[in-house]
Amino acid sequence: GDVGLLPTPPMGFNNWARFECDLNETLFTDTAQSMVSRGLLDAGYNRLNLDDCWMQTERSANGSLQWNTTLFPHGIPWLANYAREHGFHLGIYEDAGNATCGGYPGSLNHEQQDADTFASWGIDYLKLDGCNIYAENGQPLRDEYKDLYTQWHKILSGMSQPLIFSESAPAYFCTNETDWMRVMDWIPENGELARHSDDVLVYSGEGSAWESIMTNYDYQVQVARYQQPGYYNDPDFLIPDHPGLTDDEKKSHFALWASFGAPLIISAYIPDLPEEVITFLKNKDFIDVDQDPLAQQAALVTRDANFDVLTRSLANGDRLLTVLNRGKKTSKTTIPISQLGLDSSCKYRARNLWTGAVETIKESVEITLDTHATIAYRITPPRGCTKTTPTGMIFNTAS
Ligand code: GLA
Ligand code: GLA
Repeated sequence: GDVGLLPTPPMGFNNWARFECDLNETLFTDTAQSMVSRGLLDAGYNRLNLDDCWMQTERSANGSLQWNTTLFPHGIPWLANYAREHGFHLGIYEDAGNATCGGYPGSLNHEQQDADTFASWGIDYLKLDGCNIYAENGQPLRDEYKDLYTQWHKILSGMSQPLIFSESAPAYFCTNETDWMRVMDWIPENGELARHSDDVLVYSGEGSAWESIMTNYDYQVQVARYQQPGYYNDPDFLIPDHPGLTDDEKKSHFALWASFGAPLIISAYIPDLPEEVITFLKNKDFIDVDQDPLAQQAALVTRDANFDVLTRSLANGDRLLTVLNRGKKTSKTTIPISQLGLDSSCKYRARNLWTGAVETIKESVEITLDTHATIAYRITPPRGCTKTTPTGMIFNTAS
């Protein structure tokens, strides 16, 4: 990843989980206006990303991709300009193989041409999927992905205005840990972010949205060590208007993704989001953690029948404590601060990121949380207190 290109994780909007192929120009302009008037742009959500199904089913006579003129009557360059004039960047979606996941033309053998097209349209961010890359017996081949994504990285990073590169390759390997890790090994140097696992449940989907979030969360904690400034692990979209989520689950989703320093890409109908949802999405303390320049991903320290405890270091020397109650009922836990690598003999200032209240903690923190709720504290060590790498970490962060 290029830290100059993307110094902190991207924040913004994408249509996919909420609308799938039901996208059009008005959705994007209405969303942009709402993000401005509701304060999301000012809070940092400055990207509008088109996902699949924006294009025509055929390339033009000279081989270039064409936008769907019914959905985008003014055209994508117009939309990119509209985005820019309102303070946003426009991103787009393609696939490295023969076709996109939705069956539209893929970029195979058109890599440079498509990159030039996107740049000429005023786009500065590409999510490159991998649904239809050559496979054998239904099995994806690591080398095929590596070759294509490496080639794309060369092209995108070599443009006069390099494009941010969101790589979907690891997501196709997450069911086989060995292959998955081998793919992850070349991902950070080739792009600024990567989807490493399944899709979060779409709005129209059947099943448990919370479980889909927890599935991606469980994958995310396993790749913590890959994250670094300029490369961010992407556990997929925030879905704060998903009808299957409780209020606590929506807030937990946001709090956990921010704790990870993950991309905060909202896939919801923003004009209709309740004010309480907008308020938590704009929470400055969490956004500051998400955008912390150290870009360390919160790592899992302990896990018991109910609670996951995560921690990470922050650029100013503070330490984050994030606790999730995965259990089915309200429960209580006590977390010794030594588990966070903090000296038990010191007193700490701890700021509750939800309420802004500042508490003093000594030796341990007592926490009571409702089912599927998350709390986070920003802990400031006093001068002279030693900090060590948290012990008992289940998955280590990069050192
Ligand atoms: C895949 C991706 C999704 C979305 C769809 C579009 O499933 O993982 O995020 O881009 O393709 O078809
Ligand atoms: C495409 C084709 C495959 C194979 C590969 C080679 O994916 O569909 O049959 O030819 O290209 O990379």
